[in-house]
Amino acid sequence: MLGLRMILYNPRYSLALTILILQLWGFGCNDSDYVIDVPSYVTAQEGLCVHIPCSFTVPTHSPVSQTAEGHWYRPRAVQNLMTSSKDDPRKRMFFTGKIPERDCSLFINDVQKSDQNSYQFRLIDPKTLYNYKTLPFLIVTELTDRPEIFQGKLIAGKQSTITCRSPGICAGTPPDITWNGKYGETKNFLHPYPNYTSVYYSNFTFTPSRDDDQSSLTCEVAFLQYTSVTKHMVSLNVEYPPDVIITLGESRIKSFPPQPGPPDSPCNFLNIFKIIFYYFIVYRDVLGLVFSVINCTF
Ligand SMILES: *[C@@H]1O[C@H](CO)[C@@H](O)[C@H](O)[C@H]1NC(C)=O
Ligand SMILES: *[C@@H]1O[C@H](CO)[C@@H](O)[C@H](O)[C@H]1NC(C)=O
Ligand SMILES: *[C@@H]1O[C@H](CO)[C@@H](O)[C@H](O)[C@H]1NC(C)=O
Repeated sequence: MLGLRMILYNPRYSLALTILILQLWGFGCNDSDYVIDVPSYVTAQEGLCVHIPCSFTVPTHSPVSQTAEGHWYRPRAVQNLMTSSKDDPRKRMFFTGKIPERDCSLFINDVQKSDQNSYQFRLIDPKTLYNYKTLPFLIVTELTDRPEIFQGKLIAGKQSTITCRSPGICAGTPPDITWNGKYGETKNFLHPYPNYTSVYYSNFTFTPSRDDDQSSLTCEVAFLQYTSVTKHMVSLNVEYPPDVIITLGESRIKSFPPQPGPPDSPCNFLNIFKIIFYYFIVYRDVLGLVFSVINCTF
């Protein structure tokens, strides 16, 4: 008596019993009518997300009803991972399609090492309970995607913004984005898409100096409380004014850096004006262009 009660109250046994009954209900159904189209292996990077496309068929004589429910679970696990009737795209795992439309696609956010497993789809309809036979296997790898860095023209003395884009188009927990190598102001933001996914960005605003040219700046993106970290380092190209020196040698003008055209020209106001005008056009965005005119007698 006690033994029977244990069986009846143990959720694992009662589930097995229900499955047995429902399978008998669908007796006469042919397995080849139940086909699931899902990749057998799917790879995801730790911290990012994964979309597993999936569709399934049922026998033509018993189409999927509007109230049909889909489950994803791990084989031999007692608890479901996902139930279509309790679906919500704000959850870590959710359905991206509708079960009555025979869409069993799923999305997993904040992918963790422990998600590496096989997954099985179960269809529950008033007259059917079917566990589909192809089980996609999720492989979780280290995070290898790097953030992308976008830098515009950097000019010494002018405030500039460099943007970092986190890898992944996900709907999970926002990553921590930080900048290393320079002092500046960081502003993190996201670009949401209507399909509940987002791309995360960070803007780094600073005023580069001449000394920042060829120095490095790193954007670091950390997921799952720094369990999974990726970074990208760039070296900065900062434009700064050249030292323009106009000197007189044997009554002729030379300039450094050299100007195009005749390498040197007679030392007179017009030629000096031409050189200054040339540098002014080329470096018009640059502050603090300094000309020195040495040894020029008129
Ligand atoms: C199931 O269907 C396949 C293909 O339609 C057929 O070859 C097979 O004999 C069927 N099996 C049963 C038990 O009806
Ligand atoms: C981030 O920087 C880019 C480039 O300067 C700018 O276009 C964008 O408006 C900035 N976004 C925010 C939220 O500050
Ligand atoms: C969501 O929308 C974005 C932008 O259109 C797209 O790149 C991404 O693949 C979509 N994700 C899914 C799961 O459909």
